[in-house]
Amino acid sequence: MTIKKVGVVGCGLMGGGIAQTCAQSGYEVVVREVNQELLDKGLARIYNAWDMMATKGKLTKGQVDENRSRLHGTLNLEDYADCDLVIEAVIENMEEKLRLFPALDRIVKPEALLLTNTSSLNVTQMGAVTKRPQKVCGLHFFNPAPVMKLVEVVQTISSSEDTIEVVKQFAISLGKTPVLAKDTAGFIVNFLLIPYLIAAIRLLENGQASRDDIDNAMKLGCGYPMGPFTLLDYVGLDTTLWAAEAIYEEYKDPLYAPPPLLRRMVQSGMYGKKSGRGFYDYQ
Ligand code: CAA
Repeated sequence: MTIKKVGVVGCGLMGGGIAQTCAQSGYEVVVREVNQELLDKGLARIYNAWDMMATKGKLTKGQVDENRSRLHGTLNLEDYADCDLVIEAVIENMEEKLRLFPALDRIVKPEALLLTNTSSLNVTQMGAVTKRPQKVCGLHFFNPAPVMKLVEVVQTISSSEDTIEVVKQFAISLGKTPVLAKDTAGFIVNFLLIPYLIAAIRLLENGQASRDDIDNAMKLGCGYPMGPFTLLDYVGLDTTLWAAEAIYEEYKDPLYAPPPLLRRMVQSGMYGKKSGRGFYDYQ
């Protein structure tokens, strides 16, 4: 199967990053948002990233123009009809995904693949509400999607070997390194990363060390590019909470139980960098 046209559902931080990555890798891309304001905001972020890359000499002016001509914003799901592959990157809410997948299944041509960028929700369930579960799998990108080299290809009990092979090759064509994970909550990265982030919040909650000392300790002591609180703010506290809840729900392992401070911060709208305030203040 040849992939030429890619649909991305959602033009937020992840959807926008995925759409950017696909368009700059030579694919025709349709990206959809729920209203014009969000679409304009998402597209502007992508255009800015390309302008920044041109300023740094990573893209020519001609390449920026070509990328822009390959990227089409829309408000209509119907515009995915002739896509070869659609990647869902909407909010991490299962009800939302279970509404979206049957709708995509009705609209998108029968031979197309339907993928989800979920970080920890049940991909098998998303496939089960379509008439093509063998063509459904996960393709999980990492933030910032245009920069991070890894993608997790998530195989459900229904995803066919053909689907997985096409998706792996697609990931490689985007300049990514795919790793294969079974569809269990958290896959590989979040299964390991979430307990680390939760442990950092507990250290702070218990007054064992300060935010800055914990961040510096992991940056300078382990060579991580960001300390846990900088990373939490970068990934989003809401996203981290949803991931922790999904993995906790699956295993009931206290390692994944969201700490009270994380929940209170999300309840207060402190989502991290994207809302202007998280463990750090960005205003
Ligand atoms: N498009 C293109 N290029 C971009 C970009 C974008 N949207 N965003 C950043 N870049 C480029 C920058 O231009 C820069 O390029 P040069 O080195 O050529 O100048 C490069 O990326 C690095 O960016 P910065 O110089 O701005 O900053 P940095 O060196 O501090 O790196 C970082 C930023 C790559 C984010 C680095 O801090 C890092 O790797 N942090 C850890 C990120 C991480 O762990 N992500 C995974 C989170 S978990 C997740 O996402 C999964 C989940 O489900 C929760």
